Amino acid sequence: MIHSPPAASATRILAGLLEARTGQQIAPSRYWRIQTALAPLLKQHAIPDLDALVAVLSDPDNESLLQESLEAMLNNESFFFRDTALFASLRSEAFPTLRERRSQQKTLRIWCAGTSTGQEAYSVAMLFHSERDKWTDWTIEIVGTDISATVIERAKAGRYSQFEIQRGLSVDYMLRYFSQDGEDWVIDPALQKMVRFQQENILKPRTDLGKFDVILCRNVLMYFGPETRSIAYAKLERSLEDDGLLMLGAAESVLSQTDLFSATREMRGLFCKAVPGRTGKSSLPAPFD
Ligand SMILES: C[S@@+](CC[C@H](N)C(=O)[O-])C[C@H]1O[C@@H](n2cnc3c(N)ncnc32)[C@H](O)[C@@H]1O
Repeated sequence: MIHSPPAASATRILAGLLEARTGQQIAPSRYWRIQTALAPLLKQHAIPDLDALVAVLSDPDNESLLQESLEAMLNNESFFFRDTALFASLRSEAFPTLRERRSQQKTLRIWCAGTSTGQEAYSVAMLFHSERDKWTDWTIEIVGTDISATVIERAKAGRYSQFEIQRGLSVDYMLRYFSQDGEDWVIDPALQKMVRFQQENILKPRTDLGKFDVILCRNVLMYFGPETRSIAYAKLERSLEDDGLLMLGAAESVLSQTDLFSATREMRGLFCKAVPGRTGKSSLPAPFD
């Protein structure tokens, strides 16, 4: 059977819905991804094609199907210790610096914004747990958030396939922090207790998570358009302590993206507030406020 390509307008409408709700852009040259990502959903709901899906989604009563469709279109790629050098920089430079800065309070709050299925937040937890003698009398709070309810449920479960567990994790850490259950590997409850996951849109938070000492927002902003990215940077800046640190993905930088952050001189891949004390305020209209 020959399937005709979906009408360009259907993919364009779906990409538009994704951007309006999540900020994530899909370039027209990658619209083919929409068909691939939504194929299982079409099959599951017996919807013949993307045109029919768009027609169904135009009914406001089908909000939950819209949510499902948007979640299917999001890129949730993640793995443990993604960008090893940056995690090494966290361990050897950022955490010791913050240990000195917070020696009175003995509290550190870390936020993984757009954390996907949990590998990133659990990697941070492993960094602390592997040096737990240093942190015994400290309160370490790690919060992982993502716009997708599906990935947040997966992150909370801390259950990974053989393929996922092998991506980025050393055999030593795999055996130390996971136990095998059938085909899957399940996170150690001690590590699971260190991390709290919750569904949140970076651009339109439902709850005030408070201020953080470190924010990891990795491989999320690169899929936002320039205006949305400015709004996101302003939100991140407001959530970061004045002397806190921001970590982006290895392919990302604040250079020519925002004047709210600048590169730290001494910590590779980490950014600090450009002007501590200034409240991040975008001069652009804020459609996500
Ligand atoms: C490519 S993954 C990166 C995951 C992880 N940070 C890493 O680098 O391995 C991007 C994640 O950002 C999430 N995301 C996209 N837009 C978001 C938004 N507006 N608010 C919160 N999370 C968002 C997606 O659901 C996805 O799980």
